[in-house]
Amino acid sequence: METAFTTSIIEAKSFLEQGAVVAIPTETVYGLAANALDESAVMKIFEAKQRPHFDPLIVHLSSASEIEKYAVEVPDFALQLAEKFMPGPLTLLLKKKNLVPDLVTSGLSTVGLRVPAHPLALELLNALSFPLAAPSANPFGYISPTSAAHVYAQLAGKIPLILDGGDCSVGVESTIVEVQNDVLIIHRVGGVSLEELNAFGKPVVLQLNQSSNPSAPGKLASHYAPRKPLHVGDVNELIEKFRNLKVGIISFEKRYDSGETFVLSAQSSLNEAAKNLFKALRYFDKSNCEVILAEVFPNEGIGMAINDRLKRAAAHQ
Ligand code: TXA
Ligand code: MG
Repeated sequence: METAFTTSIIEAKSFLEQGAVVAIPTETVYGLAANALDESAVMKIFEAKQRPHFDPLIVHLSSASEIEKYAVEVPDFALQLAEKFMPGPLTLLLKKKNLVPDLVTSGLSTVGLRVPAHPLALELLNALSFPLAAPSANPFGYISPTSAAHVYAQLAGKIPLILDGGDCSVGVESTIVEVQNDVLIIHRVGGVSLEELNAFGKPVVLQLNQSSNPSAPGKLASHYAPRKPLHVGDVNELIEKFRNLKVGIISFEKRYDSGETFVLSAQSSLNEAAKNLFKALRYFDKSNCEVILAEVFPNEGIGMAINDRLKRAAAHQ
């Protein structure tokens, strides 16, 4: 199969209407999209990604006003969150309606719903008469793509079309939350920060710890991973420990003398660092370094999501 690039919404729409998968830009990472209401289209996502069927997909909507088409018993608090963060990097887990195929939710009674903030994604969703199921557009377990070129590098020959919307502005995946009895449960930290969620004044519980529960592979200890060994910690100590190897260093704001450094934000902006994180991991995975070292980032704002992804990317060592 040949993989083409396009910037045409009409072309992407036509592929999707024929039941094909199309990689689409979102503000977080690129997604691998198909008609969420068509099981045979959704099946192609799992095939292209080599994704296990126990891993449910997020359903992307054109607007928060569509939530109640696909979910039932939506708590008021969930609607308040939707009002505030949609479009944006937030996924709400809600009790699903029957029209959402079991294949999309891996048989779970909940569905993840999200309204992406990328203009092309929104334009496409508005042009379609169905929502889009889309996981990140990477082979299962590998680093998520934040540009059309990243998608091509991993999925060329496996998908027919990539809608090119440039570089993703957020760079890490959406924050996944669930509301239970007015308590907010965070299942994955991401583009919406803990501080922003705390601002609602409701109790917030983090359930990010490594899980053996296959219903949430984004929580698997090893995920988002490069092929090379990655170590996260005090970089000066790690440089000493790996002094016999050629190292690639991912740092927040400063250069190191030993080894090549990829500075994520010379201006010390965590948002800019998040935007560059997956690009840096891919860069060193391809470079001639033998081991990747990364700093621990300030654990505030989107820094929490950066630390979470680095930890999981390092976990298969
Ligand atoms: O930012 C994002 O969320 C990106 C863009 C493309 O929208 N999507 C994304 O999808 O990161 P994916 O499939 O790579 O990660 C979604 C995570 C998975 O770990 C999945 O297990 C979890 O969300 N998930 C989806 N539906 C769920 C559900 N009903 N219950 C529990 N976890 C769910
Ligand atoms: Mg993913």
